[in-house]
Amino acid sequence: MKAEKEMCGIVLAGGKGTRLGELTNVISKQLLPVYKQPMVYYPLKTLKDMGITRILIIVSSVLQEQLFYSQLGDGSKFGLQLSYKIQEKANGLAEAFILGEEFIGESDVTLILGDNVFLLNSKITPVKNTIFTYKVKNPSAYGVAKLDIYGELEDIVEKPEEFISDNAVVGLYIFTSSVIDVAKRIKPSKRGELEIVDVIKIINNEQYINVEEISGVWFDCGTPDDLLECAEYVRALTKRTNRDTLLR
Ligand code: TTP
Repeated sequence: MKAEKEMCGIVLAGGKGTRLGELTNVISKQLLPVYKQPMVYYPLKTLKDMGITRILIIVSSVLQEQLFYSQLGDGSKFGLQLSYKIQEKANGLAEAFILGEEFIGESDVTLILGDNVFLLNSKITPVKNTIFTYKVKNPSAYGVAKLDIYGELEDIVEKPEEFISDNAVVGLYIFTSSVIDVAKRIKPSKRGELEIVDVIKIINNEQYINVEEISGVWFDCGTPDDLLECAEYVRALTKRTNRDTLLR
């Protein structure tokens, strides 16, 4: 029997964080608190719950690398094996696979955004070439997946001006190592970024993409309101249920 390929993880914790204003002048948004733990602990816990322990954290500068390291170290206290890489400029989500080329090697890879908080009802078993969706009220604020009647991915559009579906694509993506070459092939978009939607489109055309709806709750903590709402939700969940949201 052929051995399963090891799955590694990448947490994308660079970016500019402009929408959080003064909060992120000095410290990366992913180190800001979400109730009892720094934001980045949540995506790390999501990966750990998926059985992924070898993880690369992409950060925006040498200073931020030092701050993340002071907080998380090599990850061993959480049973993780963490390494770090600097993304000099916010060139887009898909650059993660280029920066992570050596780290990924031949492994399958799960990319998770460092400001995305998942409070899932059930564990995700990683299946390669999978993206995840969450039904939202304001799809024009997100990358959106249009599915055909069989639930297959028909199209994916970044911040669609016209309604195509309410399935927002969340910041959790599972690929094989072939994603590195796909990321190298795409060109920056009009906003100057290597877009993950372009990677997904190519893989869907040349291979296939599974689409799974998240069972549970998803927050993108990109704005002050999102951050506060997420923290309040985690607080209520922690106080009212036995749900353990902490990375330990
Ligand atoms: P965004 O929230 O889209 O971008 P941002 O963090 O720069 O914030 P803002 O729009 O307010 O300026 O990024 C989503 C996540 O991906 C977040 O954790 C930051 C990370 N990211 C990178 O690490 N590198 C990048 O090039 C980009 C665009 C985002």
